[in-house]
Amino acid sequence: MIPTSKPSTGKEELSAIEAVMETGWLGMGSVTKDFEAALEEYIGAKNIIAVNTGTSALHIALDGYGIGHGHEVIVPSLTYAASIQAIISTGATPVFCDVNEKDLLVDIKDIKRRITSKTKAIMPVHYCGKPCDMDSLMALAEEHNLVIIEDAAHAFGSKYKGRKIGSFGHATCFSFDPIKIITCGEGGAVALDDDEVAEKIRQKRILGIDKETWRRYRNERGWFYEVVSHGFRYHMSNINAAIGLEQMKKVDKFITRRREICRRYDTAFQSTDGIYTLDIDYSETAPFTYIIRVPGMRDDMMDFLKEKEVGSGVHYIANHTQPFFRQYTRGELNVTDRLWKEILTLPLYSEMTNEEADQVIHAVTNYIITASLTHV
Ligand SMILES: Cc1ncc(COP(=O)(O)O)c(C=O)c1O
Repeated sequence: MIPTSKPSTGKEELSAIEAVMETGWLGMGSVTKDFEAALEEYIGAKNIIAVNTGTSALHIALDGYGIGHGHEVIVPSLTYAASIQAIISTGATPVFCDVNEKDLLVDIKDIKRRITSKTKAIMPVHYCGKPCDMDSLMALAEEHNLVIIEDAAHAFGSKYKGRKIGSFGHATCFSFDPIKIITCGEGGAVALDDDEVAEKIRQKRILGIDKETWRRYRNERGWFYEVVSHGFRYHMSNINAAIGLEQMKKVDKFITRRREICRRYDTAFQSTDGIYTLDIDYSETAPFTYIIRVPGMRDDMMDFLKEKEVGSGVHYIANHTQPFFRQYTRGELNVTDRLWKEILTLPLYSEMTNEEADQVIHAVTNYIITASLTHV
């Protein structure tokens, strides 16, 4: 079975974990600091704060900017449940917005319609790795005094108009879970320019304890501590950071390979009737997932692919249809309602071979031929 995704880890990551174990300092420490420094350099970000998951990154970034009870945060319904739960965890209310048909990125016109006096933030999702229209979002933020908390879980290494995602904007949140472009086992990070908010987030990441971060970066523990703010236990361990540091040595290779596979898929599917590819420029996008739209055939195609030993998935079930999130739905989400039933995620991972990609292409196009024959 060709899986939909899988991590690319090897002996280097294992040796790095062993090295951390030999030091006896497994929790947050100097390796976490080294990982943050590697991320800062790669992204070109002033501050990177490593945390234990991408969901924590989103939550702590919102919290760091003071988003909470009585506030509204605009977020696409078509995203992972993590984006919505992060907003709810602050006490704020998620307000679902629609997406564009061509690339499944947030529809800026729809966002504008949903801004109220309670709106404090927008959480755009750089879906599949393609950056949202950041110029328009930043202009909107300026006009309405909003914060943009970018969900860049899919977009580590992507560029917007030549600049790496995370090197500009208010706050950008990455995920390093097992199937992301790079993994820490589990992990996440917030990238931001504002030193004051960054310091607040650093403190909140480790239970609101003053100076704890800086002491731990030297692998030191002291008996005296002061809790100076509300906080969480979201810090990243040396073990997870060690995996991430090794992955950083391979990141460009991973991205190049993922782009090659996506272009191979695009070439095959753009000439196949019944399949719609997303409008993505892979010279700027570091692709996390490869998604096609197959109106009227999605579920049958998934069954067929399974028979042919090709994994597939759905990213995502629209959140406004989820039992717990339905209470937050306001107004129409016409594009999302239609598209989430058409989207299909095909296998994509950094070590995928051309033969595997061709097996996927063959299975998908075979389904289309079989389906058209049975409809004649
Ligand atoms: C769009 C999006 N946001 C947030 C997250 C949360 O990241 P994590 O799994 O590291 O908590 C994910 C993870 O899959 C995601 O895809």
